[in-house]
Amino acid sequence: MSRRPIGVFDSGVGGLTVLKELIRRLPNERYVYFGDMARAPYGTKSKETVTRFSKQIVRFLQTLDVKAIVVACNTASAVALKAIEDGFDLPVIGVVKPGAKAAADATKTGRIGLIATEASISSGIYEEYLNKYNPDIKLIGKACPLFVSLVEEGCIEDPVTTEIARRYLSAFKGTDIDTLIMGCTHFPMIEDTIQRVAGDHVRLVNPAFETAKSTQQMLEERDMKNDNEIPVDEEAYRFYVSDSPERFRRIANLFLPLSIAGARQISIEEY
Ligand code: DGL
Repeated sequence: MSRRPIGVFDSGVGGLTVLKELIRRLPNERYVYFGDMARAPYGTKSKETVTRFSKQIVRFLQTLDVKAIVVACNTASAVALKAIEDGFDLPVIGVVKPGAKAAADATKTGRIGLIATEASISSGIYEEYLNKYNPDIKLIGKACPLFVSLVEEGCIEDPVTTEIARRYLSAFKGTDIDTLIMGCTHFPMIEDTIQRVAGDHVRLVNPAFETAKSTQQMLEERDMKNDNEIPVDEEAYRFYVSDSPERFRRIANLFLPLSIAGARQISIEEY
């Protein structure tokens, strides 16, 4: 059981920020990553559509004998996690709950900002979790869809990204937030810019760290963690995509210091 891979999925490349944290915390695990490049972005789609896509991906990952699923995509975690938990007999971890917990622990003012996709913001799920931890917390959300394209275009340290960040983050002026959740896979890639614009008094929360921690806990509790060193080869990290692997490889290299030479294309609509 412990030697089986962990299935990780996202709408595209962004989930590699989560995979990076998983590998850092759980280096002896094998991983299968699926990026739904053909159907991204998820952040502008309906709950029904994202749920259907997510279930297809989990069915595909099951064919590779995964022992657990990490939903690396914030949007899919926000709108489809419950359907995945209910529909499959596999342990599933999403990124929303761990991110909300970290933010609830961090805030002193009880005012938390959330930057994410439109679908994640309007799902209301962050508020739901935050208020479970502390009913007095107030959440102020701002959809930041352009950040996704900027990161994918490689505009990491770029005046255009800084300008867009200024415009987006002006939504938090006068709100007294002291904590800001980077509730989208791509945003940790531009963390420095976000931090500069938000100011030092705002603590940024990267849900990927907490997700990796929750995954470790879950594996330990179920006695599923692999403690034996594994050879780092193509079998240790396998990548699948729903569109041409070329673009995935090119953008993936911005995210991960790993060779993604062997990414394979599959037909996800068949699952
Ligand atoms: N992966 C998505 C998320 O974290 C961002 C990109 C998209 O909209 O598909 O919400």
